[in-house]
Amino acid sequence: MASLQDILRIGAVALGIDIGTHAMKVAELRRTGRGIELVRYGIASTPPGAVANGMILDRAAVSRALRMLLREAGIRRRRAVASVTGQNVLARILRLPPIPEDEVKQAIRWEAERHLPFPVEEAVLDAQVVGEVTGDGQRQIEVLLAAAPEAVALTCIETVEEAGLQVEAVELSALAMVRALALREIPGVVAMVNLGASTTEVAIVRGGVPQLTRTIAEGVEGLAGGGDTAIMEGALDAVVSQLRRSFDFYRVQYGRAQIDQILLCGGGARAGGVDRHLALEMEIPVTIGTPLEGVRPGPRLDADAVDRLAPQLVPAVGLALRVCA
Ligand SMILES: Nc1ncnc2c1ncn2[C@@H]1O[C@H](COP(=O)(O)OP(=O)(O)OP(=O)(O)O)[C@@H](O)[C@H]1O
Ligand SMILES: [Mg+2]
Repeated sequence: MASLQDILRIGAVALGIDIGTHAMKVAELRRTGRGIELVRYGIASTPPGAVANGMILDRAAVSRALRMLLREAGIRRRRAVASVTGQNVLARILRLPPIPEDEVKQAIRWEAERHLPFPVEEAVLDAQVVGEVTGDGQRQIEVLLAAAPEAVALTCIETVEEAGLQVEAVELSALAMVRALALREIPGVVAMVNLGASTTEVAIVRGGVPQLTRTIAEGVEGLAGGGDTAIMEGALDAVVSQLRRSFDFYRVQYGRAQIDQILLCGGGARAGGVDRHLALEMEIPVTIGTPLEGVRPGPRLDADAVDRLAPQLVPAVGLALRVCA
């Protein structure tokens, strides 16, 4: 049954923009009386060399290409949610003694210092209370800390604005992925993996709540099509060993024995056999993740094309869902 809030949001439109090293993805969603619809989308090559390690190096080239992509996709909405990614971008669940909500942001700055691989003064932080736990008779709140270098976020905002848009919000790409893939309920602990051209984002999610995210500086660039199994497996070697390290980190830090499944998305997930290979190497079941269980392609879209591209559109859809879910 729809809630009153759902009904009030009918007609809400949102635009998500995911700028990768290899491809730019945009997705426009609308909330209708029958749920959320993917109204328009677009994917285009990122100008070569213009983006590296999550950092936009050539703002003019990217904003020009983004403007063109939006025009080709027929997207006229000007307010957008954009994403940040890179090795210095992360989210973590932290436990704090119960403190008033308005003091959480201050408290988290101290905590963040221990988790960031760069000075906290150079970071933009976000904190959200997501739950409460009781252990050894002590009540604690669980806070999701999200952090990114301020320079990365500012460059992203400026680039998107140069393309003629207003930035409604900036979010971690990995958290956008979680939002899009968690539209359906997933029991147990799931590792969501966004296999991109030069980076792989991992989010470990328990009961729908992200516990930690990490960006691995390895991707599937060079694997492009071809269908050669040996090349594909070789290209994935580095990703596999880094994934193992991330999973080990989770097991040790969070005292958890098991990751129950992997949900795979990103352009790399579209290469045939990648899911089977990862399942074999990691010894964990792997499913290709798409947002299409909670977001229907609109009547003007070719449903088969959307189906094929859906794994690559996951972060862009997740960004838009921030506004209209
Ligand atoms: N059908 C396909 N078969 C094989 N590879 C594919 C297919 N579709 C996309 N790819 C690969 O997926 C990658 C692009 O995926 P994606 O758009 O998720 O990357 P990106 O976001 O640009 O990169 P990053 O996140 O690392 O910055 C490219 O390396 C491309 O070769
Ligand atoms: Mg990407």
